[in-house]
Amino acid sequence: MSQTPLKVAVTGAAGQIGYSLLFRLASGSLLGPDRPIELRLLEITPALKALEGVVMELDDCAFPTLAGVEIGDDAEKIFDGVNLALLVGARPRGPGMERGDLLSANGAIFTAQGKALNNVAADDVRIGVTGNPANTNALIAMTNAPDIPQERFSALTRLDHNRAISQLAAKTGASVTDIKKMTIWGNHSATQYPDLFHAEVKGQNAAEAVGDQDWLENTFIPTVAKRGAAIIEARGSSSAASAASATVDAARDWLHGSAENDWVSMAVVSDGSYGVPEGLISSFPVTTKDGNWEIVQGLEIDDFSRARIDASTAELADERAAVTELGLI
Ligand code: NAD
Ligand code: LMR
Repeated sequence: MSQTPLKVAVTGAAGQIGYSLLFRLASGSLLGPDRPIELRLLEITPALKALEGVVMELDDCAFPTLAGVEIGDDAEKIFDGVNLALLVGARPRGPGMERGDLLSANGAIFTAQGKALNNVAADDVRIGVTGNPANTNALIAMTNAPDIPQERFSALTRLDHNRAISQLAAKTGASVTDIKKMTIWGNHSATQYPDLFHAEVKGQNAAEAVGDQDWLENTFIPTVAKRGAAIIEARGSSSAASAASATVDAARDWLHGSAENDWVSMAVVSDGSYGVPEGLISSFPVTTKDGNWEIVQGLEIDDFSRARIDASTAELADERAAVTELGLI
């Protein structure tokens, strides 16, 4: 293992997601057993003591791939030279809240972190935003980092993508590996649109394989879109291990590439594809290779899908207007 370690920053590292994510990253889930990783962990000052405890546990795992850990509350120090930044740290919503309620509470975190990344991150940095409202937080960070190419920012809709695969597998009796070309469109919120019209189950169109428009419309879509709230209701706190797992899946596929004849969902800056207003960070079907992504082109969008994509991107446009009003972008 002679390669230079990949420097990976995680913010909110002492939080719930951090407690699962750090151990996955350190044990090689991101880059495999042959590439060392150095963790740079950012927290607010009052959480540093708890974070020290987490680092003691990381030490105690004796992970062969973990080349070093640095912790701190100064974003410019922690982000210095990082190749990947996973921005998780933000307040989660509680029961009864929508993710949009977090706009002002969390938005300010991402102006400061965008600026710090702009100043000190490595030239090849990739930035994945998990903290909610993830799409608009990514937009805030991107706008505050004018020297970093816009395509280096993404927000996490991989959890929704994984949720959709799991629901479809259960409905059709297929295994999750039989399902390809799942797409989440739009915002990581209740307006998101999980699309079965382009997905496949064992090579067959998923909507046809299901053959039940009522289930698709009234069970599948709301179950996926409201899964975060259902977990908050059941657990008393928001999804954490599954969010960490999706954060790893998204970063791994971004850096290593998506599978042949398949695609993944990522919220990335819109170039106007599929009528999504330019500049919004919206979820699309993308293929990835060597740290780059491309929006899958040429999919036919019928009226049913059009209305749902438009509703979710209208919400993103409203969020953009709100954070513009707040002076965050
Ligand atoms: P948590 O409250 O357990 O942890 C958040 C951590 O962030 C805390 O330790 C807090 O001290 C830290 N933090 C706050 N401000 C910070 C700052 N300026 N810099 C660095 N760290 C800071 O929350 P959690 O359950 O780990 O969730 C984190 C975020 O992820 C929430 O916004 C949650 O809604 C979101 N989330 C997103 C998805 C997704 O699919 N996109 C899924 C689940 C959760
Ligand atoms: C989720 O989807 O589980 C997270 O975004 C948490 C939430 O607020 O729903």
